[in-house]
Amino acid sequence: MRDRNDLVALAREAAVNAYAPYSKFRVGAAVLSADGLTYTGANVENAAYPSSNCAEAIAVGRAVSDGVRKIDAVAVACIDAAGLSDSYPCGRCRQIMSEFGVDEVHVTAGSGSKISTHTLEELLPHRFRL
Ligand code: THU
Repeated sequence: MRDRNDLVALAREAAVNAYAPYSKFRVGAAVLSADGLTYTGANVENAAYPSSNCAEAIAVGRAVSDGVRKIDAVAVACIDAAGLSDSYPCGRCRQIMSEFGVDEVHVTAGSGSKISTHTLEELLPHRFRL
């Protein structure tokens, strides 16, 4: 993993495997653990819409199931989005990422090469904690 471009490339690849027959909005996510390991996920929809799951939640879940407890960065690729403003993680995914100390989130849209990087603190100030 050399830089954010590599993590974004993994997220883009993951998006191709999205199961999104209802929204037709494919999302891929790639997680970089503090140990330098990477995990990917894609959104998986369901005919019972609320049973669907987001790409970021799946990628984080895969990492955590493998023993990861600190995540440094997450890349999100909304390959069907018209622009970056339609490509930011939903509120639930922001909260899920915050649980594992995500520092940075890289966002990309369509097949464009522009990457927008934000701290999670910017995306989710005053997060819920217990
Ligand atoms: N989606 C994600 O995968 N991540 C997000 O952060 C927001 C939305 C998915 C859920 C659904 O399958 C599709 O995008 C349209 O909402």
